[in-house]
Amino acid sequence: MTLELTFEERLETVADKITLLLDHLIPRAVGPETELFSAMRYAALGSGKRMRPLFVLECGGLFDVSNNRLLRVAAAVECIHTYSLIHDDLPCMDDDDLRRGRPTVHKAYSESLAVLAGDALQTLAFEILAHEDTHPQPAVRLALIEGLAKAAGAQGMVGGQAMDMAAGDAKMEMALVARMQRMKTGALFQFSMEAGAIMAGASTEARYALAGFAHDLGLAFQITDDLLDVEGDSSKTGKAVGKDAEQGKASLIDDLGVDGARERTKMLGEQAKAHLEIFGPSALILHQSVDFVISRSR
Ligand code: IPE
Ligand code: IPE
Ligand code: MG
Ligand code: MG
Ligand code: MG
Repeated sequence: MTLELTFEERLETVADKITLLLDHLIPRAVGPETELFSAMRYAALGSGKRMRPLFVLECGGLFDVSNNRLLRVAAAVECIHTYSLIHDDLPCMDDDDLRRGRPTVHKAYSESLAVLAGDALQTLAFEILAHEDTHPQPAVRLALIEGLAKAAGAQGMVGGQAMDMAAGDAKMEMALVARMQRMKTGALFQFSMEAGAIMAGASTEARYALAGFAHDLGLAFQITDDLLDVEGDSSKTGKAVGKDAEQGKASLIDDLGVDGARERTKMLGEQAKAHLEIFGPSALILHQSVDFVISRSR
């Protein structure tokens, strides 16, 4: 069935399924915490591309793992990603007013509720992974929890965000920019791509291939994000453009220029595809995802 869909159709299908599952997993609460749940739902049920869920499902689909289990892991990753966006937009961080085509959570609600909605989405992610519906074997659930915690934590996403903040508008060495981007963005992509292999107990060879794929595509994804801030259209990206230059954010565009950065994403894309060879035709959508990532307008 997957083979008959275009990449965009496949992404839409995944997005619909994830939104439905998140709608189920983040209840509407009555009582004093109504606003908190409402803010969580506002952020999580918005119009994200759901790229990380797509990678959980497509990479997991290379192995014998049930779709429902993969969907739960995908929802957990999307909860972490959504929390990271809510916090990234706060006035003390990137100070953004627009996200996924709507006012950011701190604008629509309040700063304190944005911090708390992010916190609660983060813990919800681990609650989802810890549930036996995610995998019948406790050891596998623990491995998933450990993998996501590492990817999202100080050695991964949060560490990269801290480097981004610490740099302020200072110039950063290219190698350090790449490291920061692999941490703040690449680490969560890597977990998304490896989760199914963890669940299936896949071979070391397959794990390495997926880690290599993630290493290259994660960086390409963030470079494209930086390019969209320069050349993108806010009505398509759903967020402000031109903010990175205004805030003096370090990116590879500083050293490579727009054309050089675009070339770099193509090179990384080719490298990413090379890692997929061992999976043969079942990795078709993953191949197409590379082209989408480096040529996307949203
Ligand atoms: C934006 O991520 C933040 C980065 C890590 C670059 P996405 O471009 O995946 O954002 P959504 O989920 O589609 O809104
Ligand atoms: C954010 O990078 C990466 C995260 C971990 C949230 P950006 O700050 O460039 O993401 P956008 O452009 O605001 O989506
Ligand atoms: Mg940021
Ligand atoms: Mg930002
Ligand atoms: Mg950006």
